[in-house]
Amino acid sequence: MRKPVVLITGAAGEIGHALVTRLSDGGSTPIVTLDLRPLDEELESRVTRHFTGSILDRNLLDSILAEFAVDRVFHLAALLSTRAEFTPVTAHQVNVEGTLNLLEFAQQQGQSHGRPVLFFYPSSIAAYGLPDLETKARAGKVREDEWNLPITMYGCNKLYCEHLGRYYARHYKQLDAESHAGRVDFRAIRFPGLISALTVPSGGTSDYAPEMIHAAAQGKPYACFVRPDARIPFMAMPDAVEAILALAAAPPEALTRLVYNITAFNPSAEEIRELVIDAFPGADITFKPDVKRQAIVDSWPADVDDEAARKDWGLSPRYGLEEAFRDYLIPTIRRRYGK
Ligand code: SER
Repeated sequence: MRKPVVLITGAAGEIGHALVTRLSDGGSTPIVTLDLRPLDEELESRVTRHFTGSILDRNLLDSILAEFAVDRVFHLAALLSTRAEFTPVTAHQVNVEGTLNLLEFAQQQGQSHGRPVLFFYPSSIAAYGLPDLETKARAGKVREDEWNLPITMYGCNKLYCEHLGRYYARHYKQLDAESHAGRVDFRAIRFPGLISALTVPSGGTSDYAPEMIHAAAQGKPYACFVRPDARIPFMAMPDAVEAILALAAAPPEALTRLVYNITAFNPSAEEIRELVIDAFPGADITFKPDVKRQAIVDSWPADVDDEAARKDWGLSPRYGLEEAFRDYLIPTIRRRYGK
């Protein structure tokens, strides 16, 4: 008999690290992970089995399918927005074909258990694209269905995969009456920039916020790659993980959408710098905008409307901007670097 498990792809990444830790702290859920990289020792001790390999390797997915009964998939593996601009074709392969493989995998699992597999998908503010700063200022809190005109390969990939998820959830093989049992229970969050005290992201465009904090905590100088007035929404990693679990646990009848905005605070880069300097006086943080990465951040909304998430599944982030720094980022990061 195959064992029922949760499958997490991209488990060695930023969200993966936090989600594996939170799920394994929370008790008895057996976790199977898949990532191109091995897990670090601490994380590996928390999972039932780790597969080192690619989401593009269908044989590997088949062997997971043969051994485990996956009833929830958290598909986190992706190439982030800055990295994707250097290798757009590879980004498309990993972000879109990889997601298609996992949706097929979930569909097949669902068909074999006779009930839909829950599929959590991390979308992003990168799914939005605002044409200029005046429009961005005027747009205010952007709703899910507005400004879906991404300017990055990563944003296009995310937006398209939201549609693929909707297809697998609602219309999969719509001309074949027998196929309904396997439909995927697809649920997605459009994340803002995420800031973790424990890990540093790589290849993203919202990375200036976590990079600034981690550099200061280590006493290293940091040149921020966006202007002081650059503004996008952010959230502390523990709140992002709680949001994933809250959406995954919501009864299907409570959900009015497949894709939800969420946010916690939306400081400018200068406001982040001030908080970092309060915590680490003398930190050497300067601004050296990279025109191209700045243009990507300028195309993302300054804020998003997350009313639907609050109403449907009780999104309620614990950390506002001040609390995130005072109660989570600064104390945890000080412990991490021993400062
Ligand atoms: N934080 C991601 C990035 O910057 C966006 O989802 O690429």
